[in-house]
Amino acid sequence: VEELRVLNRIMTELMSLNTGSEVLNHIAEMATLITPASRAIFYAVSESFNTPFELTEAVRRSKENSENQSVVDEEEAEIKNEIFDPALSKLIRDVAVDETPLLIVENASHGLSDRIQSLMGIPLKIREKVFGVLIAVSTIENQRFSEKDLYYMTFMTQQAAYLVENLALYENIYENLFSTLSALVKTVEARDAYTKEHSNRVKDTAIIIAKAYGCSKEEVDVLDFAGRLHDIGKIGIRDDILLKPGRLTDAEYQKIKEHPLIGESIIGQLGLWDREKKIVRHHHEWFDGSGYPDGLQREEIPILARILSVADAYDAMVSDRAYRKEMSQKEVLEIIRSGKDVQFDPRIVDLFLSLQEEDKFEQVYRSSE
Ligand SMILES: [Fe+2]
Repeated sequence: VEELRVLNRIMTELMSLNTGSEVLNHIAEMATLITPASRAIFYAVSESFNTPFELTEAVRRSKENSENQSVVDEEEAEIKNEIFDPALSKLIRDVAVDETPLLIVENASHGLSDRIQSLMGIPLKIREKVFGVLIAVSTIENQRFSEKDLYYMTFMTQQAAYLVENLALYENIYENLFSTLSALVKTVEARDAYTKEHSNRVKDTAIIIAKAYGCSKEEVDVLDFAGRLHDIGKIGIRDDILLKPGRLTDAEYQKIKEHPLIGESIIGQLGLWDREKKIVRHHHEWFDGSGYPDGLQREEIPILARILSVADAYDAMVSDRAYRKEMSQKEVLEIIRSGKDVQFDPRIVDLFLSLQEEDKFEQVYRSSE
């Protein structure tokens, strides 16, 4: 029970650290504090470099020597040189390949430096991949590691891995999460050959309208993101409904109508992107208030959602959908025009039609045809 309390305290301290390297350093320090380790080093391992690469090191300082620090440092450097030899390098790689913690209670027949009395090697796995190995060595006679030491350090290294993983995500939140989400959108679109690249074309079309409308650079960025992800909520809808060729039943249509809300909550998980969330939520609202999910009308609907809605409807109609024949360009534009004041903001429709007349969307549709 006492040990659990210690572990808990360590974990609380860990949580307060801010960067991945601080977390790793803390684990190495812990090894020298709670196990007989005289030295603990985190090595990065990778297929792309043969020799493990030192990330961080912790050394236990013995009190009696502390008065003459430079002598101690010199000795330490010498010991380290002796410890880190090709045999240790190979052992680190073996631990990484085995993905299993290793305990050498007594170093006798392992070909390692004689300096090493006892050794632990613990892989640090991030997202199912070994990213590093913690090596703890005892160079003091009769100070050996036990199964319990290995257990604690393995536990802490695992916790550190989770933390580093989360920190890494947080540090690169835009790149990481955005690419994950984009991959999800691609997955959704891949389920339906007819909607392939739909989101991308809608995004491109909407941006052209937004720029002509006079939206700021910031708004265009919001639209860029929200446009690509606007239908991401469809991953929450079953294929047999999503891909159904004929008419949908009322119940099925109700299901489809959930996708803006599902999409909003997926993006909401990230705790960012409030404006993008709103656009995803409201991209099926109608100007006259008869859309979903909230029945917003006119200017209550965010302008970027009003823009996206025209681009979305246009692309849906010009793309050959499973449940209807391709319409002529003329028919499509007629339907958009007749949606003025009903489904669409009339100003956006007028702008869209004049841009259409000037062939401003040609670049979006040329490549896909
Ligand atoms: Fe949609």
